Amino acid sequence: MPSAPVPPPAPWWQSAAIYQLYVRSFADGNGDGTGDLAGVRAHLPYLASLGIDAIWFNPWYPSPMADAGYDIADYRSIDPVFGTLADADALIAEAHAHEIKIIIDVVPNHGSDRHPWFRAALAAGPGSAERSRFWFRPGRGAAGELPPNNWQSIFGGSAWTRVTEADGSFGEWYLHLFDPAQPDFNWSSPEVRLEFEDVLRFWFSRGVDGIRIDSAALLCKDPDLPDLAAAAAPGPGHPYTDRDEVHLVYQSWRAIADTYPGRMLIGEVWLPDAARLARYVGPGELHTVFNFPYLNCPWDAAALRAVIDATLALSSGAPATWVLSNHDVDRVVSRYGRPDTAFDLDRRPYFHALGVDLAVGTRRARAAALLTMALPGSVYVYQGEELGLWEVQDIPDELRQDPIWSRTAGADPGRDGSRVPLPWSGTEPPFGFSPPGAAAEPWLPQPKDWRELTVAAESASPDSMLALYREALRIRRSSPALRDGPMSWQPSAGGVLAFNRIPAGAGAGGLRCVANLSAVPVTLPAGATLLLSSGPLDGGLLPPDCTAWLRL
Ligand code: NOJ
Repeated sequence: MPSAPVPPPAPWWQSAAIYQLYVRSFADGNGDGTGDLAGVRAHLPYLASLGIDAIWFNPWYPSPMADAGYDIADYRSIDPVFGTLADADALIAEAHAHEIKIIIDVVPNHGSDRHPWFRAALAAGPGSAERSRFWFRPGRGAAGELPPNNWQSIFGGSAWTRVTEADGSFGEWYLHLFDPAQPDFNWSSPEVRLEFEDVLRFWFSRGVDGIRIDSAALLCKDPDLPDLAAAAAPGPGHPYTDRDEVHLVYQSWRAIADTYPGRMLIGEVWLPDAARLARYVGPGELHTVFNFPYLNCPWDAAALRAVIDATLALSSGAPATWVLSNHDVDRVVSRYGRPDTAFDLDRRPYFHALGVDLAVGTRRARAAALLTMALPGSVYVYQGEELGLWEVQDIPDELRQDPIWSRTAGADPGRDGSRVPLPWSGTEPPFGFSPPGAAAEPWLPQPKDWRELTVAAESASPDSMLALYREALRIRRSSPALRDGPMSWQPSAGGVLAFNRIPAGAGAGGLRCVANLSAVPVTLPAGATLLLSSGPLDGGLLPPDCTAWLRL
């Protein structure tokens, strides 16, 4: 009798644990105060022992760093502050030897004002082919002194900057949805499309396993560049967010990715409408998108359950992703330690004005880590999350680097507080981030209190956040239930989230996750064995702000 066909193994990104590595703050190999690829290579054993499956690198390309590398001057090389292309090749090979995949960040919406194409556009003048790769337009007003339309930069201020032409006269304006140093590419230009297709092939050929697509819903603009109406919602009628044409771009990118086995595309897509978001992971498009509603959700059982259900309903074949934090949002310990535990990029000043109870935030962050790692799909861990680092809200103004801070004249503190260099060892800054005797201090100051949160200190403590992450990732990696098992909600008391993960065809080996977000201790199911909990049980009960994993 012919044997039943063996189903192909699930693709790696379906349930991977992916570590987001912010290079400039991870580890400084050469003592200049900025993290680099040498530092990453030296710490690959740390990442391997953490138990992650892949690393996502924030942009590592040559850049004037007006937006921490999201202003790229050359998409096919490495910034000298981080190392060389040879370092990147070596890093990719060494990571692969540790069975760690590499995801890089590609930024297609905009480049740098130092990109050769933009320099050529400035030099070539109005009406030139060089300018058609960007959005140059004459200004409004009698002398062109007003921007071409009312669009605002996401970092504050107008989305248009006026150039001085080669003859010294006031000239055209160019569009930048972010900083003026980040001119938007014109995706109606075939040259732009071909260029990025080639960039994808360049990196896939070097062995990278995945690409994170920055600002993925913003690429295509209404060529008439109409004013933005106050009520405009993202979608076909919006002049620059989530226009239908953008899907043609990702269909062509998917076709390219498919020619390299085992590669994936993940989109950074912030959209409120779940149905519109789902289009990005439709047939022949991206493999996954980030789950931002989960990251923004308050620490509240009903709200989290609603987001989890909406996420799983959305995925329609595409694996879900679970994200608690990243380099753009407040660190999770601080978020959950505030009286309002939600987050919203547009209301950062409000959240920063609230007090933070670090003990409460840490307890909840531990519970959230186990809840998140028990959900079906891939999970992203932002560097430092595994140490329980908090948002550094007291960075001196003169040291702040984020353009959000400067473009809002300090009204919005920006994102530097989540980007402070990691503490590795020792009792004083730089906490092993830079080598002994380093010439420069870390590019952002580290809080002295992080002496208790170094990798070395936490490695020595079985109760640390790091110990919890290591154990949870180890169990997750070795458990068929957590990798592939479908999820089913179980009856639970108010404020408690309880669900099973039971792998198909297994008589045993199921796992129950119980997260107690209520104010009172709750009982755990009888007969189940405790595998791991985010805090000590209280006479057999699961205390508030605690999550347990149980073997069924
Ligand atoms: C999203 C990135 O995550 C953020 O850090 C960056 O500033 C903007 N895109 C612009 O590239």
